[in-house]
Amino acid sequence: MAKSASFTCANCGAVHAKWSGRCDDCGAWNSISEDVPLSAGPSSKGLGATRGKEMPLGDLASEDAPLRRTNSGLGELDRVLGGGLVPASAILVGGDPGIGKSTLLLQAAAAFATKGVKAVYVSGEEAASQVRLRARRLGLTDAPVKLAAETNLRNILTTLEKEAPGLAIIDSIQTMWLDTVDSAPGSVSQVRAAAHELTTFAKKRGISVVLVGHVTKEGQIAGPRVVEHMVDTVLYFEGERGHQFRILRAVKNRFGPADEIGVFEMTGEGLGEVANPSALFLSDREAESPGSAVFAGIEGTRPVLCEIQALVSPAPAGQARRSVVGWDGSRLAMILAVLEARCGIPFAGLDVYLNVAGGLRITEPAADLAVAAALLSSREDTSLPPRTVVFGEISLSGTLRPVSQTESRLKEAAKLGFETAILADRSKTGSAAGMRVQKMPDLAALVGDIFGAG
Ligand code: TYD
Ligand code: MG
Repeated sequence: MAKSASFTCANCGAVHAKWSGRCDDCGAWNSISEDVPLSAGPSSKGLGATRGKEMPLGDLASEDAPLRRTNSGLGELDRVLGGGLVPASAILVGGDPGIGKSTLLLQAAAAFATKGVKAVYVSGEEAASQVRLRARRLGLTDAPVKLAAETNLRNILTTLEKEAPGLAIIDSIQTMWLDTVDSAPGSVSQVRAAAHELTTFAKKRGISVVLVGHVTKEGQIAGPRVVEHMVDTVLYFEGERGHQFRILRAVKNRFGPADEIGVFEMTGEGLGEVANPSALFLSDREAESPGSAVFAGIEGTRPVLCEIQALVSPAPAGQARRSVVGWDGSRLAMILAVLEARCGIPFAGLDVYLNVAGGLRITEPAADLAVAAALLSSREDTSLPPRTVVFGEISLSGTLRPVSQTESRLKEAAKLGFETAILADRSKTGSAAGMRVQKMPDLAALVGDIFGAG
């Protein structure tokens, strides 16, 4: 049977039936290329006429041995992994070039090796001497990590098979190539085939394999999203270039909760763990100034407090600007529309800048109310009451919806010295952790009670 050709976007991994200059899914230009069929790959011979072996079928009730997890001792990393490293798993660590992936994984390899896990670090980007230099700078030269600089996957698999490590780090998947695939390293076909070989190898040999993937801007090189579906765990290492904070975020995890984050601080000696992110994100905050609101959020399983800053200023004649860092731009547009339609507070002719301090990126709808409070505070040039946290979801009608884990949000806020919380009417506050709670039915109540406007 002739297989029809398919075309994959190197940026987002979307598969299309025909080639076009621009990907309909992610909007990237020049990122679509034809897939090379995998039939020549060593592990995927064509099915042909020969019959396969019958596979054993099990039931759902049988007990398997519990997952053996190994801790690295780096608490922030172990939590994001869902409580440690699981054998026979494949983990993808994606992130912008230069964000610190190689540093993080060298530190992780050393930490696991020190805990008795045999660790191999394969660098396809740097020479072995460069990696050694980094190890020296990080003070890791004594860790029993095995190191190689190699890009030929056949050689890597042969070596790993002989060495039988517990952990293998492949830095990066975009530099690896298979001689059976007829396209350049970094192309969608090579990256897919290499990731497929490595993940099957991990399952078969019981090795944990970590694949590093650069987020790419241009379409010639396949991005990490192209292999997300093949691996058990997808972690993204993110942060703002100018900030010293780095966040390791689980976006998919077959062995633990997704959305868990680990917070790190960049130093000259590598990445340091940040055990109390709330204290860190609020450390540079000027006490109560107009345009600032403290949001009590939940990241993964942990409450995290952070500051939301807004600046609303008259726009020079012409178009008003809307600029957002660390939050969703369309969500901001929605809040502005609700403020205008339901509370009669117009933002036309005003520039609006919104920023989540510290380089954190928030995705929770619970931040709506804190964003609205920051916007109003800047627009009215009035500070929020002192030592106050804000959280709640805003619906299109302007009413406030309670959000999950209200109590742990309040507890974290109390721990950091906050005294008042502004939240939705029907929130289950329990004992409120000693905080004074100010419940509001809708956005108009916030406008009236706190800002005396509207
Ligand atoms: P690197 O780990 O090479 O980033 P990636 O592998 O994601 O491309 O780190 C980039 C640069 O930042 C490198 O020159 C080292 C420096 N760096 C530090 O000095 N301290 C740190 O804690 C980290 C993470 C990086
Ligand atoms: Mg690197």
